[in-house]
Amino acid sequence: MDIGVYISELSKSSQNIIKIISENGVDIYPINELGLLKYPPQKSIVFIDLTINANEHLKWMSLNKVKENSYNVIVITPRNSELVAQAMHQGAIDYLHPPFSIQQIKNILNRTFEHLSPGKMMIASSWKSKQVLQLAQRAANTDATILLTGESGTGKEVLAKYIHQYSSRRDEPFISVNCAAIPETMLEAILFGHLKGAFTGAIQNQKGKFEEAQNGTLLLDEIAEMSLTLQAKLLRVLQEKEVDKIGSGKPIKLNVRVIASTNKDLRQAVKDNKFREDLYYRLDVLPIQWLPLRERKEDIIPLAYYFIEKYVEENEVCELSRESESLLTEYHWPGNIRELENTIQRAIILRHSAEIYPEDLNLPIASISMNSNPVETDCIQSQVVNSKKLVEFRYILDELKKSKGNRTITAKSLGISTRALRYKLADMKSKGIDINFKNQVLS
Ligand SMILES: Nc1ncnc2c1ncn2[C@@H]1O[C@H](COP(=O)(O)OP(=O)(O)OP(=O)(O)O)[C@@H](O)[C@H]1O
Ligand SMILES: [Mg+2]
Repeated sequence: MDIGVYISELSKSSQNIIKIISENGVDIYPINELGLLKYPPQKSIVFIDLTINANEHLKWMSLNKVKENSYNVIVITPRNSELVAQAMHQGAIDYLHPPFSIQQIKNILNRTFEHLSPGKMMIASSWKSKQVLQLAQRAANTDATILLTGESGTGKEVLAKYIHQYSSRRDEPFISVNCAAIPETMLEAILFGHLKGAFTGAIQNQKGKFEEAQNGTLLLDEIAEMSLTLQAKLLRVLQEKEVDKIGSGKPIKLNVRVIASTNKDLRQAVKDNKFREDLYYRLDVLPIQWLPLRERKEDIIPLAYYFIEKYVEENEVCELSRESESLLTEYHWPGNIRELENTIQRAIILRHSAEIYPEDLNLPIASISMNSNPVETDCIQSQVVNSKKLVEFRYILDELKKSKGNRTITAKSLGISTRALRYKLADMKSKGIDINFKNQVLS
């Protein structure tokens, strides 16, 4: 496996890590060799034992820019210590408490290897996202109800599927119900099922989504949109672990892992009496939150390339120009990953060459730095304008070259008047761009 593991000095109770890792055929190095970069950060797993020299090790994490470089750091800490929180804050993605079993080490390694392997449906480059995936994998191994929160388009549904895939239920159904998309009057019958004739229009027996998800996972998407009456019925199903089909007195025993998701603040909904407090606590057993994309910028470019690969034709070359990369990183992505996906898909269609330039991205420039302070705003906006101009200048030069410097032909191919071209060339000249090519006389 093309992964290197770096290990700090280990306390006696942590020594078994070395044996397990070497059994996996992975190279192990002492931690002070990390800087030698035998493996790039994305392919490096670092074990740090905080049960000894905790302060020094925490300092080491900050000096070595664990967060910025996205190293995959796993810390070993005493149980019930504040060190876990401190280390996670410094960018650690997971933790172990000694004494740990061989199986626990294997589990943590598997979790980490999983999201380091290429070709996965989940992209997570920033340490914040990796923490979420590690937690999701831990959660996958339990039957606890999970509450996924995050702005629209952050990837809640993808994460729910990911949890299902990493659980022992992976070969059973994954069923998703969007509670906001179904009229309130129908939602109950859709969730719980009904017998023929139970209500007007019930022309045949119908299984509910709970029953369809039997032995598998049920995602209740946009749970905040459920009416208070239905919330009470849902609570009963979750507590009793059985469901009553409408029109039937016979409850059906359920074995379903429930994942609820929402882009609303459920705690606030409880305060506003829009969401039942008892149901909230029933769902919030294991909360997992996706951060908005603008708060995990290291994910943006890897995601962009993931979508390029998804949408570009086979054997076709498509890359992001440097200006496009910085523009994508600076943009504040109100629609999160879904918006990024649409942007890339559109840019692939709009581009005129193998590279995607800022103008192909078609991002609303005015809103690029709504979250930045004014100084940054000026700086970013001028950078954007400059990069847009550069794209235009490059395009004009290409056309000029093609026409061997003939301005009339160039203007025509650019779809502008010769006068407008003259103006643009003067502008380029004033910015120090050489518009006279070797062996070519501009007309
Ligand atoms: N980590 C990821 N890696 C690759 N693709 C992702 C990732 N996260 C999200 N996506 C893609 O982004 C899009 C939005 O994801 P998803 O539908 O899961 O978001 P959501 O949070 O459920 O949004 P909404 O609140 O609007 O329902 C999907 O097309 C999904 O494939
Ligand atoms: Mg969704």
